[in-house]
Amino acid sequence: PIIIFQLLPRRRDILFCDHEFFMPGMVDTHIHASQYSYAGTALDMPLMQWLCTYTFPVESRFKDLEFAQRVYTKVVKRTLRNGTTTACYHATIHTDATLLLGQIANDLGQRALVGKVCMDRNNPAKYYKETCQESQEETCRFIAELLDKKYPLVKPVVTPRFAPTCTGALLGQLGAIAKNNNLHIQSHISENAEEIKLVKDLFPESKSYTDVYHKHNLLTDKTVMAHGCHLTDEELTLFRETGTSLSHCPNSNISLCSGVLNVRNVLNHKVKLGLGTDVAGGYSASILDALRRALDSSKILTIQDPGHETLTFEEAFRIATLGGSQALSLDDQTGNFEVGKDFDALRVNVTAPGGPIDLIQIISVTSSSTGDDRNIVEVFVAGRKVVPFTEPKPE
Ligand code: GUN
Ligand code: FE
Repeated sequence: PIIIFQLLPRRRDILFCDHEFFMPGMVDTHIHASQYSYAGTALDMPLMQWLCTYTFPVESRFKDLEFAQRVYTKVVKRTLRNGTTTACYHATIHTDATLLLGQIANDLGQRALVGKVCMDRNNPAKYYKETCQESQEETCRFIAELLDKKYPLVKPVVTPRFAPTCTGALLGQLGAIAKNNNLHIQSHISENAEEIKLVKDLFPESKSYTDVYHKHNLLTDKTVMAHGCHLTDEELTLFRETGTSLSHCPNSNISLCSGVLNVRNVLNHKVKLGLGTDVAGGYSASILDALRRALDSSKILTIQDPGHETLTFEEAFRIATLGGSQALSLDDQTGNFEVGKDFDALRVNVTAPGGPIDLIQIISVTSSSTGDDRNIVEVFVAGRKVVPFTEPKPE
């Protein structure tokens, strides 16, 4: 039978029929594909200790391509299943494993930005380290080889891990590589107090953490920075002026006790904003989880200050979809159902109980408050159905 879906009045992002609706695919603007293997564990330390104790030893294992293949297949399948039609991935320092992540995203049909991680100092041990020159050369090799594959939905992203693990020389070279090739850039900023202090010590000539990246030409309208919990108004203004976006990772910010981002203040500064899971600092690989936690975090700010204007469901929904597309400069192609854009969409089953009284409430319940991947019956990326997975037919 033919089912007719209609656009919800005055909206460009919900197509509905009786008991189902299509919503735009969700965008994960910050996820570490390489950390998926330990998601849900190891959240008992603050950021800098957590990196040295858990993260770097696991990431070092990705020189083994078989291990990489297993983890990367799982993370791409899981995020697709959860409704992430676009993901912006950090991989590891290993070029070949990162190329493999690009191939897996392409084969499974996910739209992806994929970054080979760069870090040339403050690494804990010999086992997970690269020199400035290696980092630069391998980044160039990564970009050239990935572009050479001509995957339609997968792009390289220049990825200095964050200022504490990069020398100024490396940051400058990565800024130049991104500029010369007109590429996306991703990194971390102002996540936790100890990290900010370290950046101050390492870059005493810079006015702020944001200024460190700005000085090295890393703030562009194709840059996305994760966290930013402790950015000042002056720094947010620099974000807006340079077109840099922020990835809000509320699960991670709470799980690692890093801070609570004031989303209202970010929106008031007109900074582009998306949601990120930040697996494995965040324990969930679901943007629905991030959406809920963004609402919870905002409510905590309202509890602390009743004058704080709480994020609405509608705003959170938008940040999870169109906001993420804008943050990754993909909103000319994705983010809602405007004519001419690609069809990146989730077909959602409304099995909501009798409670909600209008359609928006039903959508709120199903897609955010109590819904999960079981409500997502199909996922489309660029018009291709990618969930449920179809195994390739034998020749
Ligand atoms: N800052 C630098 N690296 C990382 C990482 O892997 N996770 C998080 N949450 N913050 C970081
Ligand atoms: Fe992160």
